[in-house]
Amino acid sequence: MMKLQDLVSKRVSVRSFDTTRVVENDVLDEVFEIARLAPSACNKQPWRLVVVKSKSKLTELSAAYDRDWFKTAPVVLAVVVDHTESWHRADGKDHADVDASIFVEHLCLAAAEKDLGTCWVCNFNPEVANRVLGIDGVEKELVALVPIGYPSDNSVFSKAKIRKDMSEIVSEI
Ligand SMILES: Cc1cc2nc3c(=O)[nH]c(=O)nc-3n(C[C@H](O)[C@H](O)[C@H](O)COP(=O)(O)O)c2cc1C
Repeated sequence: MMKLQDLVSKRVSVRSFDTTRVVENDVLDEVFEIARLAPSACNKQPWRLVVVKSKSKLTELSAAYDRDWFKTAPVVLAVVVDHTESWHRADGKDHADVDASIFVEHLCLAAAEKDLGTCWVCNFNPEVANRVLGIDGVEKELVALVPIGYPSDNSVFSKAKIRKDMSEIVSEI
């Protein structure tokens, strides 16, 4: 089992996949199990995971995020939230996005542990993506697309992280 610090360092945005390698179903299931255990506000678990694997659906979905590298992913995970299920605080704030973010990061970390690359993708065209996924974009909203596959080059896992200095993000009052 990897140490958390090593796993977090290994998790990196992968934007080039090995198109000759399929992702085994049992490996995907293990990744999904880690996401299923993610915490959520009031334990509402408002997330749904749509696994896009067929060539035809992958092609349709790539119209929502037209990048050559995105087309190299053998599988794309669409993380959808149901706003009628998510917890809303007394002031009305909807926590669906917060919950989905934790879910997605669990997915990405679990994938990295299994030498799978992922990349958060939120810069998609929602209209196109909603049509392909068959969701209304209102009650059910796509939060992120996560392409997943074995990277074309494993050295990506040792890429240095560019992050703010600790002094810029931690304060004490
Ligand atoms: C909410 C969110 C949305 C993102 N959307 C995109 C995206 O649409 N396209 C993309 O190439 N990367 C996207 N990224 C990846 C970030 O650019 C990346 O996580 C950041 O630069 C840090 O690099 P690292 O993931 O390699 O550590 C997104 C990341 C997050 C957390």
